[in-house]
Parts: sequence; C-alpha cells; structure tokens
Amino acid sequence: MIYNNILLKKDMKEKRELINITLDRYLPRKDEYPREVHKAMRHTLFAGGKRIRPYLTIRTYSLFHDNIEPVRLVASAIEMLHTYTLIHDDLPAIDNDDYRRGKKTCHVVYGPGIALLAGDSLLTYTFEILSVLELDSELKMKMIRELTKEVGVDGLIAGQMSDIIHEGKEVSKSELKYIHDNKTGRLIDLSIRFACYMANTDAEHARRLDKYGKNIGLAFQITDDILDIEGDSGKLGKTTGKDEKVKKATYPAVYGIENSRKMAFDLIEEAKETLSVFGEKAEYLIMLADFIYSRSF
Ligand code: IPE
Ligand code: IPE
Ligand code: MG
Ligand code: MG
Ligand code: MG
Repeated sequence: MIYNNILLKKDMKEKRELINITLDRYLPRKDEYPREVHKAMRHTLFAGGKRIRPYLTIRTYSLFHDNIEPVRLVASAIEMLHTYTLIHDDLPAIDNDDYRRGKKTCHVVYGPGIALLAGDSLLTYTFEILSVLELDSELKMKMIRELTKEVGVDGLIAGQMSDIIHEGKEVSKSELKYIHDNKTGRLIDLSIRFACYMANTDAEHARRLDKYGKNIGLAFQITDDILDIEGDSGKLGKTTGKDEKVKKATYPAVYGIENSRKMAFDLIEEAKETLSVFGEKAEYLIMLADFIYSRSF
C-alpha cells in the first residue's frame, strides 16, 4: 500500500505538471486585455488542484495506447471546465466560500462580477479548445455535444440547482444520489469517456470504464462530504464544517458518517473489480480509486 501510494503520487505529479504546462500555454497571459478576467481565470486555475479529471483521461487512454500525447489537450480542457464550476460554486450566491485550493476564492480577490466572468470564460474557452482539436470532425462534434449535455442544464447544472434548493430542507435518498451523480459524477465519468472515444475502445471495455467512472464519481463526492466534517481545512485548501452549518444535502447528513464511508468503500471495490479485465495496465486507475476513498485532500 505504501509502495502504491508512492507510485501513484509520483505519477499524478508527473501528469499534473504536464497538464499545468499545457494550461499555461493555452490560456491568455494575465497582462493581456481584458486583464482582470485573465488574472482571475489564472488565479483559481493555478492555485493548485489535484487534476484528477485530466489524470483520469490520461490514465484511461493509456490502457490502450502508450503515447498519451493525443489526449493532453482535451484533458487540460476538462480541467478548465472543472475550474469554472469551482469558481461559480464558491460565489456568494451559491456556497459563499472564502477559500479554494489553499487561496482566497476568486470572488474574494477579484469581486463577484469578475469571478462570474472568469468562470464564464473558462467554460466557453473549453469549447473553443475542443473545436480546434486535431480530430475527425464527426468525433469532435460528438465530444462537444456530450460535454454540453453532461455539464448543461440536464447535467451538472441540474445537480448544482438541486444542491442549492435542498439547503436546509429534507432530501430523499434518490434526490441526494441525483445531486451527487449530476454535480460531480457526470464530469468525472465524461473525463473517462472522452479517453474511450479517442482510443476507439470496443463496447465492452467502454461499458466497464463507464461503470468505474460512475462509481468513483459518486464515491468522490461522498468522500468530499465526509472530509467537510472530518478533514483538515489546511490540507484540503478549503473551509470545512460548512455543509452542516447550512444544512446541505450530504451523504453523512442522510446516512450517517459510518454508513457513508461504507457506501464509498463498496463503490470503490466494485469499481476496481470492473477493471480486472485490463490486468496490470489498470494499476494506476485502481490506485486512483483507492486514493479517492482514502484521500485527505
Ligand atoms: C472539488 O473537486 C469539487 C468537488 C466535486 C467535490 P476536487 O476535489 O477535484 O478539487 P481540486 O480540483 O482538487 O481543487
Ligand atoms: C461541488 O460540490 C460540485 C461542483 C463544483 C460542481 P461541493 O460544493 O461540495 O464542492 P466543494 O466542497 O465546494 O469543493
Ligand atoms: Mg456546492
Ligand atoms: Mg462548494
Ligand atoms: Mg464539499
């Protein structure tokens, strides 16, 4: 396990650096007009971040191809989109959080107007990047369409909406799962699916990876809920204890902390089993699944 942790840590760091270089290259300089928005975009994008979604794209693609270069840009674009969701999620009108990735949130530093626009810019820029990928145009259109669906009003936005309207209210178990699957799970799953598309995987492999993605996506948000109670805000880089204070719809609030932990554990075990057909090639995705369950940041 210790050996695995070191191996995963090293690999995540390596891929993180690759993504950071790509993001830096593609993002407008902070002194380019309109400066305030560019600075604000970079503020949250480069504040840190685990880069788990791009890591999933890269490591899924590497199940099928040794050269990961073809997915580097699409993986970075997903991280841009994810960062937009964080900037907007932290806004006073949504979660009203002051810290993100160990720094003051975008709106605290630049004001809510600029933060809103920085989020909008990262979102729209993601689509611009997808549109210039050197891919078959039919595949590119399919990816753009799917991204729109997964993060749009019937996907991530629906999850965020339900999350907000259930603050301080009772939530059913099925609605709670809906919130987590949508606000968090769908982008995580898509990070994997994009790699499957680009690697042109067969249906059975894609089905298994989709199952893995859905399971780790839900487990990821359950762990996030647990860390909001038990985690160290210094390590997490964000404020803890907020969910309980504003009575968010979370797994610990509905199932209790021990049951939530067990649910996350079972999802992770099932996710790992699903990858057994890939043999040793899946070792990083398996280690990542364990990390998602046991992480402290
Ligand atoms: C935070 O995502 C938002 C959730 C979906 C819980 P991450 O925990 O992946 O945040 P970063 O990207 O590492 O900052
Ligand atoms: C955030 O869920 C999900 C998205 C940003 C889409 P949370 O609100 O629980 O995430 P944190 O705790 O602020 O990172
Ligand atoms: Mg939120
Ligand atoms: Mg939040
Ligand atoms: Mg949270």
